[in-house]
Order: sequence, then C-alpha cells, then structure tokens
Amino acid sequence: MRRVFVLTLSLALGMGLSAAHAQEKEKRYPIIPYPQQLVPLEGTFTISGSTRLVVPANVKTFANEVAQLQALVKQGIGATLKTTAVPFAGNAIVLKQDLTLPGEEDYTLQVTPQQLQIGAKSPAGFFRAIVTLRQLMPVTIEGHTTGQLKAVNIPAMQLKDHPVYAWRGMHLDVSRHFFSVSYLKKFIDLLALYKMNKLHLHLTDDQGWRIEIKKYPLLTTVGAWRELNNQDSVCMQKAKENPDMAIDEAHIIHKDGKTLYGGFYTQAQMKDVIAYAAARHIDIIPEIDMPGHMMAAIRAYPFLTCDGKSGWGKDFSTPICPCNESTFRFAEDVYTEIAALFPSKYMHLGADEVEKTSWAASPLCADVMKANNLKTVEELQSYFVKRMEKFFHAKGKVLIGWDEILEGGISPTAVLMYWRAWVPDAPIKAARHGNQVIMTPGNPLYFDATPDRNSLGNVYHFEPVPKGLTTEEAKSIMGAQANIWTEYIPSEKRADYMFMPRMTALAEVLWTHRQDYAGYLQRLNEQYARLDQLGVHYRLPDLEGFTEDNVFVDKGLLAVKAPLTEMTIRYTTDGSIPGAQSAVLPATLPVTAPQTFKVAAFSPKGNRGDIYTLRYRQEAYAKAIVEKPAKTGFQLDYFRGAFKKTTAITNTPDSTLHTDKVEIPEGLGHGEAFAARLQGYFYAPETAIYSFFLTCDDGGVLYINNREVVNNDGWHAPLQKSGQIALEKGWHPLKVDFVEGGGGYTLKLEYSLKGGALQKL
Ligand code: ACM
Repeated sequence: MRRVFVLTLSLALGMGLSAAHAQEKEKRYPIIPYPQQLVPLEGTFTISGSTRLVVPANVKTFANEVAQLQALVKQGIGATLKTTAVPFAGNAIVLKQDLTLPGEEDYTLQVTPQQLQIGAKSPAGFFRAIVTLRQLMPVTIEGHTTGQLKAVNIPAMQLKDHPVYAWRGMHLDVSRHFFSVSYLKKFIDLLALYKMNKLHLHLTDDQGWRIEIKKYPLLTTVGAWRELNNQDSVCMQKAKENPDMAIDEAHIIHKDGKTLYGGFYTQAQMKDVIAYAAARHIDIIPEIDMPGHMMAAIRAYPFLTCDGKSGWGKDFSTPICPCNESTFRFAEDVYTEIAALFPSKYMHLGADEVEKTSWAASPLCADVMKANNLKTVEELQSYFVKRMEKFFHAKGKVLIGWDEILEGGISPTAVLMYWRAWVPDAPIKAARHGNQVIMTPGNPLYFDATPDRNSLGNVYHFEPVPKGLTTEEAKSIMGAQANIWTEYIPSEKRADYMFMPRMTALAEVLWTHRQDYAGYLQRLNEQYARLDQLGVHYRLPDLEGFTEDNVFVDKGLLAVKAPLTEMTIRYTTDGSIPGAQSAVLPATLPVTAPQTFKVAAFSPKGNRGDIYTLRYRQEAYAKAIVEKPAKTGFQLDYFRGAFKKTTAITNTPDSTLHTDKVEIPEGLGHGEAFAARLQGYFYAPETAIYSFFLTCDDGGVLYINNREVVNNDGWHAPLQKSGQIALEKGWHPLKVDFVEGGGGYTLKLEYSLKGGALQKL
C-alpha cells in the first residue's frame, strides 16, 4: 500500500539552497505534510472579488469540493467566486480533472500571477489540493468573522503531490471518557487540515457503551452510564494543578440520587458525523471491541458471559462467551446495525486483552472446543474472531483486529492492527502470512502518553515499515495510526493537547515520508497561529535554557528563550500556577538564593503551555576522584523481576556485563520485567555546572558523586527529566538505576555544559 517516492531533479536542486534561503521557503510554503514536489516560483496569485472559478464540464462530481473551495474563499474575502465552465484567460482559479494522475488523492497545483490551476483525478485529490491552498492563506481566514481581507495571495509555484501511505489514521477512545459531537467534528477538521484519512472510533469498552443499537436499548440506557471511577479520581487530583484534567461537566448527570458519567451517540448523530467526515474524505472505522473489554454490555445483558458472572481477572475484565449461540446472535445483531450505519469498508472487532479463565472453566466451552477440535483457549478466541469475520464478509466488510488475533491462528483476509511493542515480530509474521498490517506501536504512537520535548521528534522519525521485511513484504504495511486512549483524558482541551501538534508529525511521515525534521519544525512554527485561530488547545513548543533541578555556586541566571516570538513567558515564585496575570519573565533573571520558579508560556490567544517547576539550589563544586579510573565504560548489573521503582532493586544481580555507553544493550530482558544498575565514571572537561537529561521507559535515577541528579523513577512511557550538578574538572563516579516493567524500553542519558548543545554520554 506504500508508494515509493522518486527524487526529482527539481528537489535535488532544492537541497542545494542556502540555510537562509531554505528558511525563507519554509515561511513562504509552510505546508504540512510537505508536498512531494514543490518548485517555488516568483510572484503571487491574487484571489479577489473579480477572480473567476473555472470548473470542469462534469462539475457535479466535484460539487462538494467546489463548495468547500468557495467557503474558503468566502472566509477570506467575504464572497464566493463567479463560476464559469468555459475557458477564461484572465485571473481565475481553474479546476481541471486530470485522468493521467495515478492515485485518487493525487493532485497538482500550477500557480502563476495570472492563474491558479488545480489538477486532480477525483474529488479526494481536489480536496487535498484545497487543504494545501488553505495552509498557504493568511491565518485570519480561520477566524470566526468572514471577509476580513480584500484579497488573498497565494505564492506562485509548481506542485505535484501524492500520499505514500494509504492508511493515515487517528484513533479516539470515546468510551473511557466521552466526547461531544462538536468535538468529533473539530477532531475531523484537524485530521482533514493535515491530510489524514482514517478516523478509528473506539466506541465501546468496559467503561461505557457509546453508540445506539436499536435492538438492544439497554446498551445505552444502562451501558453508557457509570459512577465516577478510580481513573476519574486520578484526573480530579491532577485537576488541582491543571484545569484541563477536570471531568467534563457536560457528561455528568444526576439520577436516582447518584452522580453518573457518560453519554452516547444516537445513530442519527453518528450519521451526521460520518457525512461530515466523508465530505473531508475521511473514513470513520467503528470498533465494537469484543470478546473482551465488554463490561458495559455485560452490565446491560448479563447473559453474554459463560456463567452469568462478571468482574475483573488479573488484568482484564470477564469477556463475553464464545460458546453460547446467544452471544453470536447478539454480536451479529450489533454488527448488523454498525455495518448499515458506517459506510467504511472496514469494521474493527477489537479482540485485544481477553481474560480467558472463564472460558477455561466453562463446561460449555469444553464442549465447543471438543466439537471444533480446539486445543487452547487462544484457539477458542481465534474461533470467535474467524466466525465474526465470516459474518463481516457477508456484510461486505473487512475485519480489523488488534494484534492478539494472531494468537491461535489468523485468517489471511483479516487486517492486523499492531500495538504490542513487546511482541516485535507480530507485524512481520502477519505481513509474511499475507495479512495487511496497520502500524500503531505504543511508542511513539500511543498519544495517551504525556508528550514531552522528545515526542515530536520521536513521531517524526517513526518508520512505518518494521525492520526485517523485504520490499515485497513491506507492501502489506498499509500505513500507521496514532491512538488516543482516554482513561486520563477527561476533557476536550486535554485531548487537543495530547494529539496536537504530534499528529502533524505523523501526517508528514505518512503522506510525504521524507525526512526533513528541521524544515518540518520551521513549518510547524508557522502553523501555531492558525491553530490558535481554530481554538485548538495545542501543546506549545518547549521552553529551553534550564533543567528541572538547577544548581548555582555563587550566582545563577535564569534565561528562558521563547521558541516563538508571539509567546509570552510568565512566572511565579510563591508556588502558584502562572496565569495570564502573572509577571512576565525578563530575558535574564539573576538567582542569588535557593528558590523555586513556576514558569509557563502563553500563546497570543491565551493557550498556556506546560508548567515548568524550576528549583534552584546552591552547592559547591563536587570534588573529582584523585586517580583516573582503571577501566572505561560501564558495569551493568542485571536483576530479573518486576521492580516498580529503582529503590526496590536488591543487592545481588542475576548477571553482570560491560557496556561502552549508558544504555541497555538491545534484546536484554526479551520483553520481560527487569532492573539494571550501570556504574562507571563521568569525565568533566572543566569545572562548571553540568545539566543531565535522562530519558527512561520505564523509570530511572541518575546519581553522580553519590548525589541524586535526576529522578525519573517509576513505571511510565518514555519521559525525559533533567537535573544539574556543579562538578570540578576530572572524573566523577556515575550510577544509573533503571527499572523496566516488561515490553519495550528506552534509556538515554545526555548532558550539556553551561547550557550548550546536548551531548551523548
Ligand atoms: C490496546 O491498547 N489494548 C489495543
């Protein structure tokens, strides 16, 4: 499903541009995802009240796109363009159907001061072209008031564009926390703005059933509502520091003396959302997750389990019973309504994380397994998935399942959605088996992981094709998708923050698939003002110039650089959260006594960035050891077992090895939980203050000279923390304790000297 990019002469020449020239280009053409080929030309094309719109003879086919283009023009100049179907030599936007283009989403733009020509084969291509034009228009067109401009200028260029991957997706879990119809539309608008084309809605889970099923009304009257749970409690605790973590009052009701959280979409509402997405050439893929994650349905219809009981096993909830025909009747009835409602060719059965002990204990299942020659409960799960897939096929639909559908045997026609980082060969096996695969590996594509300064780069450098596949096998990789699980995302603002701007990096990976991180960052800087206009509560770019724990010897200097000129940085010293009224941080602020600052950036629209807590403590330079260490590198002690924190590491390692760097050698642990202790020496090339940056998944703590410098402990997704220490020139003992809870791990240690560039250890 992947289209290989051919480097053209014009691009090769483009690479020779000077840095200043290149920056100029990013400013003039701030397009994300960047087009496959763009040749800048002198001058601009001006859209004004006298511009004509020349449409093809079969304009009806493109009615939706013409309307969207007209709406965009109206946002700018307050009026739509006069349309004509006859050739026009003057100032005009000319839509041309170009049947020589190979792909449905392909388009060309030919912009000169005289005319703006759009070429596309199909409506989807026209729509992608319009989005490109939109990104080239002044950001004021995104505001609430239309017609603020007399004219809209588009820079001249020659552009040819197509996507590399067919599946460019975002997922949203509307079960754990619920999101309004208007938010779904806002979400779809943002997908469309960055040429994403799939929206996977996780419509059901243990915490709530979110789509009306007419045949089973209790799914929503009962299953869509729950009392506040322990995930809500975590959110409410965090809301004390961050109002975006408060539970959205819009989804709380009071009934029979109880406070209930929930909500659902009626089929009529969902139809409207589907049409809204379709007009933007985005498919909505429904997921009704089964046989696991079905607690909400089981609460409404207890007959769905093997023994009428439900609850929680070690990790997951009781699943529905694949050994009762009534379960299949229910599942097929539900999916009959889903298949009729959603026009997408794909339906997602879920099939992840199934607690199978109730099946193993069931006499009914023993009979079914015997009758169908199934040896394990994994094969029983596969029996359920395959039966459902047959039913999907009868409805003309293709089944997608999470990668657990490989266990117990996968049908060759199912699409595998890969997520479990700790089963790295799953997508490889599936592709070699002939299955189509969508990549959504936890790191970096689970956007429920709190973003930090590394997130954008991690997403941007993600390679959709797993290592080890041949070019031929790689054709099975349809693309990728980021997932937003919402256990700890209780509000629309928080959701915005979690996926924006990370999604724009993924969009460029999947559409353009050509590395230009520096250019991307510059173009992204040009996008923030547009996002501000659109009311997107995006995560602001990171502030630089400090670590979390700062050290000074005589006098410190807090010097924070705003990454965007329009940003204002505010601070407090009394422990309160910086707000719009807090003091503006000067360019440099001397620190002469131990102090704690809270610092945050604000966009022109008042969107607040991350709150940084910066502690300053005074300490003397730590003494270096007298003699140069006999050995370079690091001793790595390996401890088998699950240690929740580094403080739980015992003193007797299971094995010991030697490494050159502060890192975990590839393959260590084989996906199991473990701990590691690395010990060696750090050479300080001069007497100075050193900043250390420790990135860990899961947890780690850095000690230098027996002082704790960075504490990044506890199990979590990849997260960077930083700290400082004042060191005399020479060698200093260094220790990193690390814990891994199982799955993929990350350990990276970098440092900088006097706030300079980051260096690897
Ligand atoms: C998943 O994250 N359980 C697919």
